[in-house]
Amino acid sequence: MPASTVNEIPFRDQMETPLVGRAPRLLLLGSGELGREIAIEAIRLGAEVIAADRYAGAPAMHVAHRHHVLAMTDASALRQLVETERPDAIVPEIEQIATDELVHLEAEGWHVIPRAEAARATMDRERIRRLAAETAGVPTSKYGFADDEEGARREMKRLGLPCLVKAITSSSGHGMTVVRAPAELGAAYREASEHGRIVNPRVMLEEFVPFDAEVTVLTLRHYDPAGQIRTTTLDPIAHLRPGVLYHESWQPAAISPSVAGQLSHVAQAVTDRLGGLGIFGVECFVRGDRVLFSEVSPRPHDTGLVTLGSQWNSEFALHARSILGLPYSGPELTVPAAAHVIAGVSTGGNPTYGGLSSALGMPGVRLFLFGKPESYPDRRLGVAVARGSTITEARQRAEFAAHAVEREVGVGRTLAPGRESPDAPRRPIARWDARRY
Ligand SMILES: Nc1ncnc2c1ncn2[C@@H]1O[C@H](COP(=O)(O)OP(=O)(O)OP(=O)(O)O)[C@@H](O)[C@H]1O
Ligand SMILES: [Mg+2]
Repeated sequence: MPASTVNEIPFRDQMETPLVGRAPRLLLLGSGELGREIAIEAIRLGAEVIAADRYAGAPAMHVAHRHHVLAMTDASALRQLVETERPDAIVPEIEQIATDELVHLEAEGWHVIPRAEAARATMDRERIRRLAAETAGVPTSKYGFADDEEGARREMKRLGLPCLVKAITSSSGHGMTVVRAPAELGAAYREASEHGRIVNPRVMLEEFVPFDAEVTVLTLRHYDPAGQIRTTTLDPIAHLRPGVLYHESWQPAAISPSVAGQLSHVAQAVTDRLGGLGIFGVECFVRGDRVLFSEVSPRPHDTGLVTLGSQWNSEFALHARSILGLPYSGPELTVPAAAHVIAGVSTGGNPTYGGLSSALGMPGVRLFLFGKPESYPDRRLGVAVARGSTITEARQRAEFAAHAVEREVGVGRTLAPGRESPDAPRRPIARWDARRY
């Protein structure tokens, strides 16, 4: 649907009170740690927040006014939820949602953040890559698509080695493999086609980029005080992934003015095509003085957890403000800060944490423990965010605090077989290329 035919969330100057009146109502589809921060910020602005997820006790449910447990990939359950709660904005927080139903709901006049089509396009690597490279015309790595192993082999020869094989619909590296030798292609094809978020014979292949830095450009589409929609790009965030999962990020990233200019150009060009209101996380690679677009989240980004320390308005505060139709005028000032993930080690219920006094004894540190009811290895259970007088100091503080807690994480209860959270990965999360750093 062309962006212009969708009604925008109206510019807002007044509001009523939650529960007793008709305050603006946000329905979070996905209630993880990012959703929890969005909920807190929206409630601070006087909104009514409804949290939905596929398991009870999800982080945003701890703070929302109401919550619902449902399979968000079930189109009729999703529709029923929307028709019951009648939200002013439907706010996807994860990718695994019945996005086709979001498109129907939007056509009936419901507001989907940032747009139903953006939610649908960004969960499909082919759509978003073609939109960025072929419609918006931004630079990307070389890429191709294939519907079977033979086709994948042809694309591998065209792109050269090493290359990556990725599932069309996935996140957190599910179904992704780096292929370094032709003999590895068959297994990589099967991994991508069978172990993405959905089984799909079509896969994406991508040239491997030996990047110098990986950055996220948080990009906000928002009303200005005069009621005009503007785009503001925030200071780039750098991040490191020792494995395939987000582990550490910091802001600002050390980049040259020329790279900064290219990053904002790429972010603006891609988000212009997606439209709507709210935060986008535009993921890019930097190699020398060149920028390549990688992918984009039409919502707050994991690596943006650092903005809980680095910005006056975090990515969550900016998202909440923008999607409530409230104005913002930047610039957003940044102080050096870093975020370091606290990951689960074992499987079980009632995750337990220790090392809190060491972590919080470190100056400049804040801890965010997500309150997830279950742990499994590598599950993100919390994050330490630290400020410092330099990025190096902030990173050291955040790492010290995260590791102090992580050394002591455990579980208070073992789970009966088959009782694991629906969030648990169906197979171990791939660990590839951990030696790159
Ligand atoms: N072409 C590439 N060259 C080198 N490294 C890559 C390439 N594509 C992806 N990576 C690495 O793999 C990580 C995950 O890739 P990508 O963002 O495409 O997958 P994802 O499943 O969407 O992960 P997430 O949900 O964590 O963003 C990237 O952040 C980057 O570190
Ligand atoms: Mg990514």
